[in-house]
Amino acid sequence: MQHMKIGFIGGGNMAASLIGGLIADGTTPSQLRVYEPDSERAAALQRQFSVQLAEDNGRLVDEADVIVLAVKPQVLREVCQGLAEGVRARRPLLISVVAGIRISDIDRWLGDGNAIVRTMPNTPALVQCGATGLYANTLVDEGQREVAERIMRAVGLTQWLENEALMDAVTALSGSGPAYIFLVIEALEEAGRKLGISDEASRMLALQTAFGAAKMALESCESSAELRRRVTSPGGTTERAIGILEDGDIRGLFERALTGARDRAQELAEELGAE
Ligand SMILES: NC(=O)c1ccc[n+]([C@@H]2O[C@H](COP(=O)([O-])OP(=O)(O)OC[C@H]3O[C@@H](n4cnc5c(N)ncnc54)[C@H](OP(=O)(O)O)[C@@H]3O)[C@@H](O)[C@H]2O)c1
Repeated sequence: MQHMKIGFIGGGNMAASLIGGLIADGTTPSQLRVYEPDSERAAALQRQFSVQLAEDNGRLVDEADVIVLAVKPQVLREVCQGLAEGVRARRPLLISVVAGIRISDIDRWLGDGNAIVRTMPNTPALVQCGATGLYANTLVDEGQREVAERIMRAVGLTQWLENEALMDAVTALSGSGPAYIFLVIEALEEAGRKLGISDEASRMLALQTAFGAAKMALESCESSAELRRRVTSPGGTTERAIGILEDGDIRGLFERALTGARDRAQELAEELGAE
């Protein structure tokens, strides 16, 4: 990885987060190339990270061992079709962070036979606390898997998936997940305010509670269920609150919500990957 050149197609939010994470992780800026059509955004990336700017996507493919596809899903087909010739000549490892587009579609647009890792990061990647699901096609070798994992680990935690279909479930769980947690925080804030706590105090207490609980669970060997049991004394305040949430079928609600999100991810993949 020390001598590899990593090229980013698209220099938006996700690319900037990965570049920032990689540099913090020891990658030298001279290993990183970006093609970003918005010249102001490109110049800002160069100023902030001292990365090299490519003149176009074709030049970037000529110079990179690893290509990170970091454009919006709607433009990926056109981008891949434009890259096909260079990719066929050099056969770089391709890593897609693009939501909802299947490896078979990317490979078809690039002209088939490519080593591709599909990833699904989430927005906390922007603060290097992301959660990313990864899936590699059979043309990706062990060394390339390690490279892909190292790149995505630069913005948080990584988990390999056994099959690509699970990517839609990952989209439902961690891809859309930050929004569910924001909703829970919002609901806690509102309920706190209704009980007379000030706006500011309600917001800060709800936020720190969510952060502290996640940190505690991440650092603990115990399951979330066990941690919950430990703060739920018989006959106490937490037990009454949890009972009310369970009576409201909070688990069933989350199951239905994730199933709905998973199904929508499948529909979007069909639409975006259509011929
Ligand atoms: N942000 C997240 O947290 C997140 C989470 C999961 C997955 N993703 C995925 O990551 C991808 C990038 O998301 P993002 O938030 O970084 O989007 P973004 O900020 O809009 O970045 C995409 C960049 O690609 C540029 N671009 C457009 N056409 C291009 C082309 N032909 N060649 C090269 N670059 C081109 C865009 O420039 P213009 O603006 O000038 O068009 C833009 O700067 C998306 O597919 C998204 O699904 C993002």
